[in-house]
Amino acid sequence: MEASFRPVSFPFLAFLFLPNFFFFFCTGLLSELRCIDTERQALLNFKQHLIDPSNRLSSWTAHGDCCQWVGVVCHNLTAHVHELHLRSFYPEGDFVTDEQYEAYERSMFGGKLNSSLLDLKHLNYFDLSFNNFSASPIPSFLGSMKSLTSLNLSNAGFVGVIPHQLGNLSNLHYLNLEGYWIDDLYVNNREWLSGLPLLQHLDMSFVNLSKASDWVQLTNTLLSLFDLQLSHCQLRSIPPTPSVNFSSLLTLNLSDNYFENTLIPSWIFGLRNLVSLDLSYNHFQGPILVDLQNMTSLSHLDLYGNNFNSSIPNWLYSFSRLEFLNLGYNNLQGTISSAIGNLTSAISIDLSRNELGGKLPRSLGNLCNLREIRLSSNK
Ligand SMILES: *[C@@H]1O[C@H](CO)[C@@H](O)[C@H](O)[C@H]1NC(C)=O
Ligand SMILES: *[C@@H]1O[C@H](CO)[C@@H](O)[C@H](O)[C@H]1NC(C)=O
Ligand SMILES: *[C@@H]1O[C@H](CO)[C@@H](O)[C@H](O)[C@H]1NC(C)=O
Ligand SMILES: *[C@@H]1O[C@H](CO)[C@@H](O)[C@H](O)[C@H]1NC(C)=O
Ligand SMILES: *[C@@H]1O[C@H](CO)[C@@H](O)[C@H](O)[C@H]1NC(C)=O
Ligand SMILES: *[C@@H]1O[C@H](CO)[C@@H](O)[C@H](O)[C@H]1NC(C)=O
Ligand SMILES: *[C@@H]1O[C@H](CO)[C@@H](O)[C@H](O)[C@H]1NC(C)=O
Ligand SMILES: *[C@@H]1O[C@H](CO)[C@@H](O)[C@H](O)[C@H]1NC(C)=O
Ligand SMILES: *[C@@H]1O[C@H](CO)[C@@H](O)[C@H](O)[C@H]1NC(C)=O
Ligand SMILES: *[C@@H]1O[C@H](CO)[C@@H](O)[C@H](O)[C@H]1NC(C)=O
Ligand SMILES: *[C@@H]1O[C@H](CO)[C@@H](O)[C@H](O)[C@H]1NC(C)=O
Repeated sequence: MEASFRPVSFPFLAFLFLPNFFFFFCTGLLSELRCIDTERQALLNFKQHLIDPSNRLSSWTAHGDCCQWVGVVCHNLTAHVHELHLRSFYPEGDFVTDEQYEAYERSMFGGKLNSSLLDLKHLNYFDLSFNNFSASPIPSFLGSMKSLTSLNLSNAGFVGVIPHQLGNLSNLHYLNLEGYWIDDLYVNNREWLSGLPLLQHLDMSFVNLSKASDWVQLTNTLLSLFDLQLSHCQLRSIPPTPSVNFSSLLTLNLSDNYFENTLIPSWIFGLRNLVSLDLSYNHFQGPILVDLQNMTSLSHLDLYGNNFNSSIPNWLYSFSRLEFLNLGYNNLQGTISSAIGNLTSAISIDLSRNELGGKLPRSLGNLCNLREIRLSSNK
């Protein structure tokens, strides 16, 4: 402070510098941080190319502080734009009214993503999910947004090939490319994914992966991955994989892939930490393999809609963490053992649409957490 006031003893200098000093004092120390000019320009340019039918971005005005804008989160010390929350909200619930759906349609962003976004050099979270960029492919410049740790393009309506440039986003922890419809999005190869070593969550459900059938090996290189969602990916066959290293996986979803009549591939049994396994709506056949018996950390097991034809193995009843068990719509034989009373964590059990017979064991009464059990369409 003393140094700053020294000019007072030199009237001429004081005249020159005091206004600057006060300016600094008022804007720099007392008022809030304002956003960075180049970043505001980048956002305004981005907005210009966006279609925003319900004017959700009305707060994005030419001279405003972009840190105060809807959907924009700045770092609280540097004022750099760190997050862009631009998702739309699909109406929740089982019964969506026309009004709700129309409101959702009006709220969706469309148009083009402008590469001015590259000026947001500190952006780490970008969520564009549930919008309608229906006419366009995923722009390859997104692969140059190196600071991203989370990219969410789930149901954003993009079509065409997923650009391999996304493989340059080496800081990504979260990548969601889930599509609207089968075949809107597809990949030509999967090598680019190995450029994302920090990935923890990967969702490519509804993306046509049939040209990248060696995707299992790939997951061997993603050593941080704990959530892998590959539902509806047109994966007709699973190539044999000698060994699988990605034991960090906690959830694996391979539902709705119509694997051509085959056994559950053995690498799945190597995933000892798995908490959730969804293999529903495939064409797996044969017995429920004993190889599953060590996967006792499972709390969610969904084998609905396959051709499993053994009896329900007794060891399955010792899965004490199992909350959700779905064995429905298979060809399971035999009776339901009284050991089912050991599934003490069970909340929901579906054994419907099988060839099961016999009496219901009394031990079902031990399942205090059970809210739902389906047994219809058996013998
Ligand atoms: C900035 O945000 C971080 C968490 O995001 C918080 O811990 C910190 O206290 C904040 N700093 C200030 C000056 O508000
Ligand atoms: C991005 O915006 C600039 C300036 O508005 C424009 O010249 C350019 O063509 C746009 N690029 C794309 C890919 O839309
Ligand atoms: C990605 O978007 C989906 C759909 O809006 C949402 O459920 C999910 O939580 C989002 N993930 C992240 C990390 O924002
Ligand atoms: C997306 O926008 C296109 C026109 O750009 C329109 O034909 C289509 O119906 C829209 N899709 C949805 C789900 O609203
Ligand atoms: C990464 O970016 C470089 C140029 O910056 C490009 O040549 C390369 O093809 C990109 N890699 C991937 C996997 O897209
Ligand atoms: C998925 O891609 C394959 C190979 O490009 C193609 O033959 C197949 O028709 C696609 N699946 C669908 C449902 O369009
Ligand atoms: C697997 O993915 C499908 C499609 O996205 C979803 O409906 C299902 O709930 C997922 N399974 C689990 C266990 O999350
Ligand atoms: C398993 O991991 C080791 C060490 O990371 C690696 O050398 C090996 O090739 C991996 N195995 C497979 C099948 O990828
Ligand atoms: C179960 O299915 C397999 C493969 O289709 C078949 O070889 C076997 O005979 C069947 N077992 C029973 C008990 O039906
Ligand atoms: C299950 O674990 C036991 C003890 O670790 C081991 O001896 C057995 O071979 C395993 N069974 C399978 C099917 O992997
Ligand atoms: C069920 O639990 C009882 C008592 O803990 C035990 O004796 C029995 O072996 C268990 N049965 C199975 C199939 O795990």
